[in-house]
Amino acid sequence: MIKKVAILANGGDVSGFNAVIRAIVKTAENNGVECYGFIDGYNGLLKNEYEKLSTANDEHASGILPKGGSIIGSSTNANVFNYKTIENGEVVYKDLSDVCVENIKKDGFDCLFTLGGDGTQKSARDFSLKGINVIGVPKTIDNDVACTEITFGYNTAVSVATEALDRLHTTGETHHRIMVLEVMGRYAGWIALESAIAGGADIALIPEIPYDINKAVEKINSRKAKGKRFSIVVVAEGALPKGGTITVANTRNNGAGVDNTKLGGIGQIVAKQLEELTGLEARNTTLGYMQRGGTPTAFDRVLSTKYGAKAMELALEGKFGVLTVIKDGRLNYVSLEDVVGNNKTIGAVSGNTAESNIRKVNMDHDLVKTARDIGICLGD
Ligand code: F6P
Repeated sequence: MIKKVAILANGGDVSGFNAVIRAIVKTAENNGVECYGFIDGYNGLLKNEYEKLSTANDEHASGILPKGGSIIGSSTNANVFNYKTIENGEVVYKDLSDVCVENIKKDGFDCLFTLGGDGTQKSARDFSLKGINVIGVPKTIDNDVACTEITFGYNTAVSVATEALDRLHTTGETHHRIMVLEVMGRYAGWIALESAIAGGADIALIPEIPYDINKAVEKINSRKAKGKRFSIVVVAEGALPKGGTITVANTRNNGAGVDNTKLGGIGQIVAKQLEELTGLEARNTTLGYMQRGGTPTAFDRVLSTKYGAKAMELALEGKFGVLTVIKDGRLNYVSLEDVVGNNKTIGAVSGNTAESNIRKVNMDHDLVKTARDIGICLGD
């Protein structure tokens, strides 16, 4: 019988974090289980900083369903299996996971819920190998967590990008311009592809299909020939030209095994090239963190609630070392071992590295077929 559980939110924030937290807390309360939240992801677990989460009497987890961000914070720099510390002015990496294990055991948490993307779930798997009862919930606007058809936060990001495209449409049409929208997604093109379809874009460049800029030029010229003097282009931040490389805005030094590469800048490059090659004016808009902030869509509220409730249900059934997923459109769960894929080494590797087991856009996915059917140019 579980009596006391803890939640942590880790990685870049998304709309829906709070909806998951609320659903876990509510399901826990309905089953007589006490709930706590570690502050700022794995950093809070390491420092043993946590607070009580309850929906009673307007307490912390009440009224949070539509609220963006995370009431218990989140961290993008915490690989506790290879943690960056400074000793005598020198950077020293340490495996501090046993401190976390001790914290969980000492305060009697029967289960830890890890809300996060591939890096977070990699650490979750590593904690489960150390004997901790862990249940993961797949988060990220990028929609690239392995083994699930959708992550919470993704739908809201697509909606924000779609609204941006609607707005770029009217200004582009008015001034006869090429309007480029750079969206997030890291090494996966889900946001770009789905928002391109939802927002009626003419061209979508995604990391999975290295592009030939001349194909985009042909598309714009064929529109021009039909009297359409504007075009809408969605560019994923991880898009790259054939034979070229990804555009990196900067790199951080948050330590080995965490996401240190900040992508960005490809939208501006594409806009400049298209302007030169078509003779039409082009403008780039980089959507950035708009995609992660603010209230979740109805879809994300429901998905997050389903994921949170399922996670707590699994805990009550004693099914640990798993991730809640959507499989064939239904709520389900898989082993965290399947989620990490071939990235079996304990500790050293976290998210956003060559070893990460992420889910990219697959060439026979419906979104790719639909985009091609209606004539969206994918740069190939
Ligand atoms: O993984 C989510 C994400 O928003 C990516 O789409 C983006 O590349 C990255 O995080 C930005 O990370 P940060 O918050 O560290 O700037």
